[in-house]
Order: sequence, then structure tokens, then C-alpha cells
Amino acid sequence: MITIYPKVQPDFNNLQKQNKIAPSKPDTKRLANFKLINPPDYVLFAGNGKGKKTEASFDEVFDRAIRDYCKPELFTEKVTNGDKELTPAEVILNRVRNATEYEEGRFEHSLTVAKKAQELAPAHNVSPEKALLAGVIHDYAKGMSNEELLQYALLNELKVTKDEITVPSKLHAPVGAHKAGEDFGITDEEILRAVRTHSLGSEDPENKPLSDLDKIIIIADNVDPWKDRKKKEKGKENIEGSLITETYKKTKDLDKVMLDYFRCKIVKALDSSKQIRQQYIDNYNYLANKANSNSGTSAS
Ligand SMILES: [Fe+2]
Ligand SMILES: [Fe+2]
Repeated sequence: MITIYPKVQPDFNNLQKQNKIAPSKPDTKRLANFKLINPPDYVLFAGNGKGKKTEASFDEVFDRAIRDYCKPELFTEKVTNGDKELTPAEVILNRVRNATEYEEGRFEHSLTVAKKAQELAPAHNVSPEKALLAGVIHDYAKGMSNEELLQYALLNELKVTKDEITVPSKLHAPVGAHKAGEDFGITDEEILRAVRTHSLGSEDPENKPLSDLDKIIIIADNVDPWKDRKKKEKGKENIEGSLITETYKKTKDLDKVMLDYFRCKIVKALDSSKQIRQQYIDNYNYLANKANSNSGTSAS
């Protein structure tokens, strides 16, 4: 039985009757035919192109992240390209690529987010390894259809929120966290939670506020220039990205940045007469009250 909070009981009977979605293990046959990415290629995607130091740093941090937070024995030995056995990093990147290739630029976006998160982490005493790994896997389930996401959540008894049920594409966050955890042997709660919260924020900010790692992943996700281009194609602006960049540059304060981010989400919904996601309101209220109590003023 799926657990939903706050208390909502959508009808899942039909979902249970439907076919099971693809197993969480990747399609190795498809993977074997897939054009492999050599390390220098993915490093170029993620690096800033200004020198070897940054490029090597991505590789090193990624390798440390895999050593510390993944179980390569779960996924290294079975995947080969001809005579060559892939490194654990290559296996992860190829699986992420396979999972995100449905959309032009989504795989590169995953790497850009990882790199940005890695860069932001040290200034906020966050582990660069956790930040990079969370960035790489944050959209791991983004290529699944709404039906697949709902089925996955149901079959794996995931806890989901009312907002995620209302807009099932938002389930790519909790499903991605679970699926990446299964596929790569990631059990670190902080990494999985950063993936879990990257789309809607915390499901319960009063009791489980966003961590600095969670905030960094949201920031890195929204400031990727690829998002600007995607929104422009639809005649929109990446207002969240601009606002986040501006506030971060000015303050370097993750809470202030998040407050602006959730405010932007709420205002955008109001401006377009759309329903406001409850989690945006809850996260905004939590951060606003925290800011007001820190500055000694009471919330209105
Ligand atoms: Fe996402
Ligand atoms: Fe993303």
C-alpha cells in the first residue's frame, strides 16, 4: 500500500491492475549497444573548459563519491564494451544517459548540475562528493512517463505527497532517489533526500527542513543555462534561475536564496492563475518565519 501524506486517498485500484513497469535493473542488452562515453567526453561536459585542474577534480571527486557512497560490485562486472570493462563511473554515467536521453540536453544538464553542486558545496561545509553524486542522479527518473512513475511509487510503496500525486511528473524526484539507490547501491540518506526534495522542496519543512545539500541541488538545478534555453523555446524566462543567481551573488545565504525561490514559484502560480503547490507554500512559510525570528520580527 502506498503511503501518502498529508492524508489523501487517491484511487490506486486501477494502477494495481496495470502491468508492472520495467524492472529497476537497466536493460543490459540496450546498454551494450549504446554508444559509450569516454571519460574525456563527460569531463568536458562537466568541466569549465579552462584547464586540467577542474576537469581532473570532477573525476577524482566522482571516483571518491562512488567509493564512499555506491556499491560498484552491484553494477560493474556485467557491463562491457567489447573487451573493455567499464569503470563504475562510466557505468553510472551511461545509465544516467540512457535514462535521460529521451530529451536533448537532459543528460548534459545532469552533469552541469553535478559540477555546479560540487563547486558550491565547500563554501557551505557540504561534502563535494555527496553534492556531485546527487547532481548526477537527480533526474534519473525524469524520462519515465507519469503512469510509470505512479506505478513505480505504488509497487515500491514509496511515501509520496499530495502535490506529487496531483502532478505525477513531480514523482520523478522520489522515484529517482529510490531507483538510483537500488541501481547504484546508494544508501546515504542525505544524498537520496537531496534527490527526493529537488523538485518541490521538503514535504514537511517544520520537522524536516531542507538541508544545505538539498538547497545546493535545487540551486544548481535551476541555474543551468540549459534551463534558460528550454524556457526560451516556450517563450518563457527562467525567472527562478535569475533570481537565485542574483540573491546568491549578493548574500551567499542559502536560506535567503531558497526564500526567493519559493516566493518566485508562488508568485508565478498567482500571476498565471494556476494552483499553488502546497509544498511551495509550506517551504516558503517555514523559511519566512525562520528569517523573521532570526531578525527579531514576528511573521505577519
Ligand atoms: Fe528534476
Ligand atoms: Fe534537473
